[in-house]
Amino acid sequence: MCGIVGYIGKTNNARDFLLNGLEKLEYRGYDSAGIALSNKDGIHIFKEKGRIADLKKITNYSIESAVGIGQTRWATHGAPNKINAHPHQSISGQFTLVHNGVIENYELLYKEHLEGVTLKSDTDTEVVVHLIEKFKNDGYTTEKSFLKTLNLLKGSYAFALIDSKDSDKIYVAKNKSPLLIGLGDGTFNIFGSDALPMIHLTKSFLQLFDEEIVIVEKEHVTIKNLNGEAMQRNPIEIELDIEDIEKGTYPHYMLKEIDEQPFVIRKILKEYKGNENGFSIDKEIINSVIESDRIYIIACGTSYNAGLIGKQYLENWSSIPVEVHIASEFSYNTPVLSTKPLFIFISQSGETADSRSVLKYIKQQNYKALTITNVQSSTLSREADHTLLLHAGPEIAVASTKAYTAQITVLSILAATVAKKKNITLGFNLMHDLGVVSNVIESICEEKEIMKKISKEYFSTTRNAFFIGRHLDYYVVLEGALKLKEISYIQAEGFAGGELKHGTIALIENNTPVIALNTQEKTNLSIRSNVTEVVTRGAIPCIISMEGLDTPEDRFIIPKVNKHLAPLVSVVPLQLISYYAALERECDIDKPRNLAKSVTVE
Ligand code: G6P
Repeated sequence: MCGIVGYIGKTNNARDFLLNGLEKLEYRGYDSAGIALSNKDGIHIFKEKGRIADLKKITNYSIESAVGIGQTRWATHGAPNKINAHPHQSISGQFTLVHNGVIENYELLYKEHLEGVTLKSDTDTEVVVHLIEKFKNDGYTTEKSFLKTLNLLKGSYAFALIDSKDSDKIYVAKNKSPLLIGLGDGTFNIFGSDALPMIHLTKSFLQLFDEEIVIVEKEHVTIKNLNGEAMQRNPIEIELDIEDIEKGTYPHYMLKEIDEQPFVIRKILKEYKGNENGFSIDKEIINSVIESDRIYIIACGTSYNAGLIGKQYLENWSSIPVEVHIASEFSYNTPVLSTKPLFIFISQSGETADSRSVLKYIKQQNYKALTITNVQSSTLSREADHTLLLHAGPEIAVASTKAYTAQITVLSILAATVAKKKNITLGFNLMHDLGVVSNVIESICEEKEIMKKISKEYFSTTRNAFFIGRHLDYYVVLEGALKLKEISYIQAEGFAGGELKHGTIALIENNTPVIALNTQEKTNLSIRSNVTEVVTRGAIPCIISMEGLDTPEDRFIIPKVNKHLAPLVSVVPLQLISYYAALERECDIDKPRNLAKSVTVE
């Protein structure tokens, strides 16, 4: 949710770093963007509504600068327009600020400290830059003014601040919003909301914790707490392959990431491989799971949908009761907790604010937490007791695909490893069967022409669509419907087949597309009856069946896999038909309207 970047160095590379870096962070928000470049003539600000491509069009390329900051925005306070775009400046123009996060008490701060100041924008951020200038005018140093301001703020922030009268440094601060410092070769230093804008320049990073400020200079980086005391920090290495963050020959990241799923599953198998054809997971994690009397899975969006499948594995294979909760609802609908709960946080980004707030709450109660995430050393990973990594590589398209299948795969490995430890026999070889799954996904990914045809036929003009399934298929159709609505803006809902007749069937009219998933023998006949019910009322059905359960009326047959693992393969046609539906409707597939990939506000 918003991305920020900054560069300070000996050479005039700021503009290119900022513009290219913001493009890498665009998945975090993309309704407006801006940069500030500092040089001997002062601060030059360029901002524009829309994408980085629009910002590039209005940037003056003749301006040379070795110091700069930038932001790509997902609007929270104030409409997405040029005035509300960052950077924001103080009245005299001495201070320039970019922000990712939300300042909850900005109105109060304005009333208490800034009466009479005319605000140009509707943002919460602008108040912060005026406050810094106010304290500076009161006689404090810039660093003290920044610290005094930070100590007044309630909410989340990653800030970068330039003082035009001392632009040999950039002041950076973080609380709840992610921020990483990239260490240069002695001639520059950089920072960004994540590593993606920086990995072509460095592998060495400094992690920041909440309520820290950093003074970034071209040759030094100094971390302090909010009392102004210096903190020691060792750099960490982050190895990311540049190819992983490029689209290559693909038209969209989403398609690339769908195609990557077989490789991700194989990578996970390799990473979690133990001896004797079994899996290996840190003993402490397995013990935490075994010692718990109930697991609470906490997640949002697609990760929540993966959690629903994970629950089946953990309950049915390892015999531990599991509840799955939407993170944003947990604090209102807090369940009566068991005596020894274990919390499992599932999050692609590891930064989702709703999940973070539950983690914070349960850590205050001293409960144990395991985070399953794609981002090593993300906040949810750092703050939990244990982490299991997804090894899916950076997921850049806003609509999550490979992270979903990676989450289910890792959850299956966790459940199977716990089962083994508890001497529960599964009756199948998970390692082998996941290998089959990866091959089957590869074969489905080769059927793009069929998926394109289905999308054209069902989704080119429809306003709504329904997805139905039973048992495991029900959870997968929730994800299928989410994918379709996210990227094609078709109103799509997933339902349990048996529940349709209790209300939703009233919405079925002539030519309503109904996608039915049919991978479980147990529910084959009943889901087919549900299809008949909707067809009788005018729906056009699209049945996707598992080999062995198929009939001639089915539109797509999924090659047979272990029935428990069917969600890993059956989601792929749903991802692909959503992709082609969005393509057909000329939607912005990788950056759907109103969404952002990493949602760091509650
Ligand atoms: C956003 C993204 C979704 C994602 C959800 C949870 O809404 O657009 O694709 O599923 O956040 O994100 P997380 O990083 O916690 O899995």
